[in-house]
Amino acid sequence: MPVRKAIIPAAGMGTRFLPASKAVPKEMVTIVDRPVIQYAVEELVRAGVTDICIVDSAGKEALGDHFRCNAELERLLEKKDKTRLLEELRQLSSLAEISFVAQNEPLGLGHAVWVAREYAGGDPVVVLLPDEIIDPAENLVGEMIRTFDTASVSVVAVDQVPHASIGSYGAIEPEDPKADTTAVRSLVEKPHPDNAPSDLALIGRYVLDPSIFGILESLPPGAGGEIQLTDALAVLAGRGRLLARRFRGRRWDAGTKQGYLEATVSLALDHPELGTSFRNYLRQAGVAQ
Ligand code: UTP
Repeated sequence: MPVRKAIIPAAGMGTRFLPASKAVPKEMVTIVDRPVIQYAVEELVRAGVTDICIVDSAGKEALGDHFRCNAELERLLEKKDKTRLLEELRQLSSLAEISFVAQNEPLGLGHAVWVAREYAGGDPVVVLLPDEIIDPAENLVGEMIRTFDTASVSVVAVDQVPHASIGSYGAIEPEDPKADTTAVRSLVEKPHPDNAPSDLALIGRYVLDPSIFGILESLPPGAGGEIQLTDALAVLAGRGRLLARRFRGRRWDAGTKQGYLEATVSLALDHPELGTSFRNYLRQAGVAQ
């Protein structure tokens, strides 16, 4: 059975995006015409995922509202003959089976994934970090699911990052640094660049064997005093049960202000309805050719 379930950890505090993320969850911040969380759900649906569990926390109720059917709004659009908008809203609430589980304290990404263990119910899962937006033209998760199906071991996505920034990521020690898919020998969360095992960084896409939940259960806190998913992945790597898939396309870290701006401009230029007029605007403003 191909992997059909996914967990989206969305319970973090979003400190890098303050003050915007103080009252509005950073996953609800809009990029072009939809909130960050919708990009995440759409990416999973394109990869064949049908069942999604979002890990949220107090104050993030808007995430549920965004995907829930709003009958009153739909009636109003129907009355006003706004058929296209109505259709778009209906599609939004039927994209996938979406459920929620709360992480009551931000004890780390590993803990957020562990909180969804009952949802996984012994099945393999995709874990997708919504801050990290991947070019919608790519199907990275779909390819990772196929690798998982063939190899029957967990798969993480990695990208080569500038050496100076590897300390912001989890870094892998690959068996073959040049290969598109390689075995992972070890991993370390946020290494000092001088000690990093490579410049291949984890980019927030994982297809995980259910054994990850047992590993997370017995992990002590790691970097920053948090339960780190990277530490659990290191256990899988030590058992020879982890592959890395190299991503070479476009991606943006929308959890930072700079990444958010880059995602907005790039995705606006790619937008089927807004792209041309936005490009014209940038030309007229003298900021694009
Ligand atoms: P980040 O460290 O990027 O997110 O976690 P953050 O903590 O929200 O943001 P900053 O660093 O303070 O700006 C990566 C992902 O893991 C989730 C976050 O919501 C994000 O999607 N996360 C992190 C949790 O769900 N729970 C946690 O305890 C920590």
